[in-house]
Amino acid sequence: MNDVLPDVVGVWQFLEQTALDVFGTYGFAEIRTPALEKTELFSRSIGETTDIVEKEMYTFNDKSGSSLTLRPEGTAPVMRSFIQNRLATQDAVAKLCYIGAMFRHERPQKGRYRQFHQIGAEAIGVEDPKIDAQVLLMLHHYFSRIGISAVSLEVNSLGCPVCRPGYRQQLINYLQARLEALCSECQRRYLNNPLRVLDCKAEACRAATVAAPAMIDHLCDECDEHFRQVRQYLDLLEVPYVVNPRMVRGLDYYVRTTFELVTDQLGSQNAVAAGGRYDGLIESLGGPALPGVGFAIGLERLVLMLDKRQQKAKVPALFIAALGEDAARQAFVLMSKLQAQGVWTEMDYMGKSLKAQMRRADKMGAVKTLIIGDEELRTGLAQLKNMADSTQKSVRLDSLVEELS
Ligand code: HAM
Repeated sequence: MNDVLPDVVGVWQFLEQTALDVFGTYGFAEIRTPALEKTELFSRSIGETTDIVEKEMYTFNDKSGSSLTLRPEGTAPVMRSFIQNRLATQDAVAKLCYIGAMFRHERPQKGRYRQFHQIGAEAIGVEDPKIDAQVLLMLHHYFSRIGISAVSLEVNSLGCPVCRPGYRQQLINYLQARLEALCSECQRRYLNNPLRVLDCKAEACRAATVAAPAMIDHLCDECDEHFRQVRQYLDLLEVPYVVNPRMVRGLDYYVRTTFELVTDQLGSQNAVAAGGRYDGLIESLGGPALPGVGFAIGLERLVLMLDKRQQKAKVPALFIAALGEDAARQAFVLMSKLQAQGVWTEMDYMGKSLKAQMRRADKMGAVKTLIIGDEELRTGLAQLKNMADSTQKSVRLDSLVEELS
């Protein structure tokens, strides 16, 4: 779990604000849900046999004995809120986005943390493949706005409750015949969660599954047609992608379209964003039978990929250096008026020498400085210095606020 310090928080604010701007133009409105939810929300939606639910959740009993969990992801909480607040009654389509901290007790490494942040978006109510393509276009648009191009979009279809069980059984049969070759973890989970074996990083499992059956070759007609149209719309919108038939996701609620935005710049944590369709999830949580599709972006991973030099540090517009107590009082009033007008102004509070004050102004990168001493108080005039080119201009102290704001 990391602190985000003031010298890098500008990058975070840029990424968050740009997301709200871009998503806003596609009609997504921000929703904020609590960091804590009832544990069963996650076990029912993400799935009992997933790594997240089996090993990674921060779960505890509160004082009244309820089992609560720090949210490991944002989709289930947003669906809970969607149902509880009857958002389905407001419009046929609900487009919601969120930014916030998520918690998973994973082994930390570069790009993987126990408290991390996601920017997510969920479009609820539409089964048409146009919305899948639209959500992917929005993700694509966001990445070009923030200037990250070293990513590639991988898409897949995971079928539905009609076609997946048959495929699942075929995969189990395939794995059973090669059980000896699998790692111990996969030998344990291949019956409960055979798709995860396709995602295992162990060399032995990779080798054993090269010729494993793929879901996209076993889709029912409806899923096949849905996936075909998603790809057709992506082509139409000129969103580049590749089909990755081996892609599985670490959460059980997905059906049909799934996708990941991957990069080779972050070592093994190669997904900067991921998501897919979750028709059936809302109904399984006690809500209306509405489909949904969405994604979440890992904010820390974006920060790691962004060239920090692109981000200009914010600097004060003015530093007022004061000589003597009377001047300091006058400087204080001037500074406060300027701040109230929206002009970032700084001064010294410690009675430092003029030299020390100017050194600090320089270090802070102040655009302009103003020196006030007895002489300036008497004449009401002071020199406003432009720090970039050292040019000076005489200004009246009583019109300084108008001059600068
Ligand atoms: P997810 O694949 O578990 O999906 O996470 C989405 C993204 O969050 C990942 O691609 C990664 O960038 C980031 N992420 C996940 N775990 C960590 C971690 N420990 N440290 C840093 N970053 C991490 C979901 O969470 C789904 N709720 C996405 C979704 C939304 N599907 C539909 N709608």
